[in-house]
Amino acid sequence: MLVGGQGTRLRPLTLTTPKPLLPVAGVPFLAHQFARLRDVGVTRIILATSYRADLFEEVFAGGDFDGVELIFVTEAEPMGTGGAIANAAAALESGPDDPVIVFNGDVLSGHDLGAQLAVHLTSGAEVTLHLVEVDDARRFGCVPTDSSGRVTDFLEKMPNPVANQINAGCYIFKTRVISTIPTARPVSVERETFPNLLQAGAHIQAYVETAYWLDLGTPATYVQGSSDLVTGAIASTALPGAPGQALVLDGAQVSSSAQLVDGSVVGTGAHIGDAAIIRSVIFDDAQVGSGVRLVDCLVGFGAVIGDSSQLERCVIGDGAVIPAGQVLSDSRLWNQDGVLTITSE
Ligand code: GDD
Ligand code: MG
Repeated sequence: MLVGGQGTRLRPLTLTTPKPLLPVAGVPFLAHQFARLRDVGVTRIILATSYRADLFEEVFAGGDFDGVELIFVTEAEPMGTGGAIANAAAALESGPDDPVIVFNGDVLSGHDLGAQLAVHLTSGAEVTLHLVEVDDARRFGCVPTDSSGRVTDFLEKMPNPVANQINAGCYIFKTRVISTIPTARPVSVERETFPNLLQAGAHIQAYVETAYWLDLGTPATYVQGSSDLVTGAIASTALPGAPGQALVLDGAQVSSSAQLVDGSVVGTGAHIGDAAIIRSVIFDDAQVGSGVRLVDCLVGFGAVIGDSSQLERCVIGDGAVIPAGQVLSDSRLWNQDGVLTITSE
């Protein structure tokens, strides 16, 4: 599992917490990933870490998640997605033709991993990619295929994508293909490894399944993914409670007149006054005043939202203090050397 990126699109939250460890529906996002893999029979996960690597070992101390063995392999310097796979391969125990499953660490997917594996094994492909259809392929890897489901091209983040079919970030490699990725320099699996393999005539197969699928890498998709987990639009056995309108963790204090809806989350130690919280994620120890209205917001650890503020699609950094009566949308707010800094999209 690739978890070493900087999560720049989720700053300021990722300045302190790496994206895969941010709280999503009440637990670090990776807990949902691990639970899903455990549920389909995975027993060993190698985490390819780089950015803030030590925090992963702290959060999943002991290297065990409910019986799944976790192994942490850290790059000295960020090696890119391909370099991370090559580096983590040192911990693989598979034979040359055995399948290795690789995941982007920020994707919430309901696709059938067993079916993807079956396609990989019956087609005999070197690599099998899970693909989904999206409305706008520009921020993804666009992956056209032929009538037999063979991948014909891999076009990462093109301004004019040739298809709506994209790389969903779950690959099955033959182990020996991973051994061909250089380890001495950064390599992008999307921009270098896949295009080079195709150029050399290698068989890359598509597994197309448009089940629930979301990349949680932006503020909008992060609130969406968290909300979908809370309401049960996508099931997760790591959800700490029953699906419903909102998830309030133990140790949170919520005013009886507060309105929490559309899959909002309130973290432990948080205080919520008489506020309306709509499809938003309130991290642990944050405080939300009375008369506040939050729509599609992410409120960082220990942040304080002053009374009567109206915030829509805002990301509030850890410990930021928002004065009363602020009316803002599409902004990022964080505390820089004691000064509240606001940037608009
Ligand atoms: N270890 C390590 N080292 N991990 C990395 C590095 C690195 O240098 N760079 C990125 N990662 C990890 C990230 O943490 C993330 O889990 C994953 O690799 C993908 O990086 P993102 O930054 O999330 O990429 P993206 O969302 O822009 O695009 C990727 O995902 C799309 C689907 O969600 C690409 O794979 C696209 O082709 C794909 O469509
Ligand atoms: Mg991503």
